[in-house]
Amino acid sequence: MLKKLQQHWGVNGLQVLLILITFALGGSLCGYLGRKLLGFFAIESKAIWIAIYIILVTLLWPLCVLLISVPLGQFVFFKNYVGKLMGKLMGKKQQAIDKKVNIAIFASGEGSNAKKIIDYFANTTTNIALLVSNNSNAGVLQIATDNNINTLILDKDDFFRGEGYTATLKKYNVDFIVLAGFLWKVPPSLIATYPKKIINIHPALLPKYGGKGMYGHFVHEAVIATKETESGITIHYVDEIYDHGEVIFQAKCIVDGTDTPQTLAAKIQTLEHTHYPTVIASVLPKQR
Ligand code: GAR
Repeated sequence: MLKKLQQHWGVNGLQVLLILITFALGGSLCGYLGRKLLGFFAIESKAIWIAIYIILVTLLWPLCVLLISVPLGQFVFFKNYVGKLMGKLMGKKQQAIDKKVNIAIFASGEGSNAKKIIDYFANTTTNIALLVSNNSNAGVLQIATDNNINTLILDKDDFFRGEGYTATLKKYNVDFIVLAGFLWKVPPSLIATYPKKIINIHPALLPKYGGKGMYGHFVHEAVIATKETESGITIHYVDEIYDHGEVIFQAKCIVDGTDTPQTLAAKIQTLEHTHYPTVIASVLPKQR
């Protein structure tokens, strides 16, 4: 049950606990304030008292949970939660989002690329609908929360079995998937659902230095060990083989004798941050 909530809300175990406490305390505060406020009016009829009480607590509830969420450190979660609830009630925000092209970003680590992508598409007709991670401790989740983006934590068995998370992605109206430092292989079911609509960035000039186990610093270490004089980035469509699909874009940088895996990583990161958002924009569907 707790694990399901953790996945559903995209938070860690401690946060689930704090969120549940916020719900309980916020609800109690709301009931208490509702009764206190009604005490000021002498309402004779029990039925009218109950009707007004229900209306009052419905209006008070968002304020109460937001208030309680502050000391428990869950304000951002509840701000999003209440916002979504209101949006659903009014149906307006959803309509506006429905017209936008929706991206899901899949990431496993710190999320510097995810951050650049989120910033690039802010206030455009492209919506970052979901941040998906296999790692509930990934730094990228905080970036998503700070930017009011829904998060989803993947369960390994569920991801690689049958239809995986296809239904969940459809629920969020995801049109396009961007891998930004995502370390699991994308299962065939997802590739079949999103043909030529999943792209990845790799920190080397593919086809060199790609494949299983080739990610992050392992790539830079291998490039330096081989005494390459250049490296770079590759942005490509995702197919069923690791780091293999059709190349969309490459950019190069020089590797000199003084480079270490760290200095090379910094050069590569600059290339990634400069090019990934614009390349994504160039291959996105123009409308839903
Ligand atoms: C990026 O350098 C990306 O190219 C690499 O992971 C890093 C994620 O950094 N991806 C791979 O190695 C995939 N094979 P970030 O979390 O700071 O965006």
